[in-house]
Amino acid sequence: MATAAASKPTGLEGIVAGQTSICSVEQGQLLYRGYDIHDLASRATFEEVAFLLLEGDRPSADQLARFKAELSRERSIPDELVAYLKAAGPMLKARTAVPMDVLRTSVSLLGNLDPQAQSNTHEANLAKAKRLTAKIATVIGHMQNVIDGNDIVPPDPSMSHAENLLCMIRGGERPSAEEARIIDVSLTLYAEHDYNASTFTSRVVAGTMSDLHGATTGAIAALKGPLHGGANEAAMEMLKSVDRFVSSGEGTVSDWMSDAFASGRKLMGFGHRVYKNGDHRASILRDLGRAYAEKKGTDAAKWFDYGDEMIRIMRDEKTIHPNVDFPCGMTYFVMGIPVPQYTPIFVAARVTGWAAHVMEQHANNRLIRPVSEYVGPARRAWS
Ligand code: COA
Repeated sequence: MATAAASKPTGLEGIVAGQTSICSVEQGQLLYRGYDIHDLASRATFEEVAFLLLEGDRPSADQLARFKAELSRERSIPDELVAYLKAAGPMLKARTAVPMDVLRTSVSLLGNLDPQAQSNTHEANLAKAKRLTAKIATVIGHMQNVIDGNDIVPPDPSMSHAENLLCMIRGGERPSAEEARIIDVSLTLYAEHDYNASTFTSRVVAGTMSDLHGATTGAIAALKGPLHGGANEAAMEMLKSVDRFVSSGEGTVSDWMSDAFASGRKLMGFGHRVYKNGDHRASILRDLGRAYAEKKGTDAAKWFDYGDEMIRIMRDEKTIHPNVDFPCGMTYFVMGIPVPQYTPIFVAARVTGWAAHVMEQHANNRLIRPVSEYVGPARRAWS
């Protein structure tokens, strides 16, 4: 039997699989339609970034006001979906389903109920993208209300996308301005990242001329994995195990890391296929999260102490840097957000990037269909 040569690149590493004008991911810079991520994180709101991605350019004041009004208007979700979310409560409690699975099914159901579901025109895709962006945040909020056994908190049209999302998750408790800003920045950082696994999935689905809800459903499934978006949840679970190890007196952070290295475990929230010298987004979120945690006190700041120590050891011993999911886990945790909602919140942002890619794919489509090298048995007879 033939075997694949070990030296061959796997996982499409380094392969240019298509063109895009939406985002440029390079070690030197991360750009959304030409704008640097540092400028966007410090000067733009998530709504402005969403407009930039979906509509193609930075909004004027009028365009932004109209866009924000459109998003607020589309926040409520159909009764059929509210009923599904209530029915999902026992599945979430039994852990046969996790929030990412429920969100995936919710997006699929939203497609079943969308009058433009089967249309792939640019106008229909844009309208559906805005509806999905608005409604996904509400799904996450309602789902958390169901999990907590609280009344469902209706969306508040007077709040920004980020503030409203956190308020709904918290059962109606209005976040501080700093908390709303941190969520807003995290949504900006998560909104887009060129041909990553979930976006590539959405383009493969769209490339068959299938629809936006289907492409988004597939993208959510791809994002869920711990090697991709699921890393923000996995990173926080890993930090909790570091805390248990240190607090119980078993050893130091450094001892925990030595054990991880000796057993060949991968550390969640570290490493990246493209950024081998550090992820632009990680330090932005780490600095915001750390400043917020320090104001909350030592119990909150300790997570960043563990995290910074791990970052130092990984850098010195493995030359591997944290990606955005590492500070995201700690930041959301000190804000009191339940861990299984971290990757759904990632979806609440990335849906804009996915939709931009689906529209770009549909606008100039060619079926995405690579070939493989066959390494199975040679021809044989079935007799
Ligand atoms: N912890 C420990 N070692 C890591 C590592 C991590 N998080 N990430 C990469 N490495 C090591 C690998 O073990 C490998 O070492 P080796 O050459 O001695 O075998 C080397 O670095 C290359 O890793 P590889 O997994 O082949 O690189 P990749 O480009 O395929 O990996 C990721 C990219 C993201 C899949 C990988 O870094 C990873 O699994 N990270 C953890 C999950 C994560 O945070 N995902 C979110 C990404 S934004």
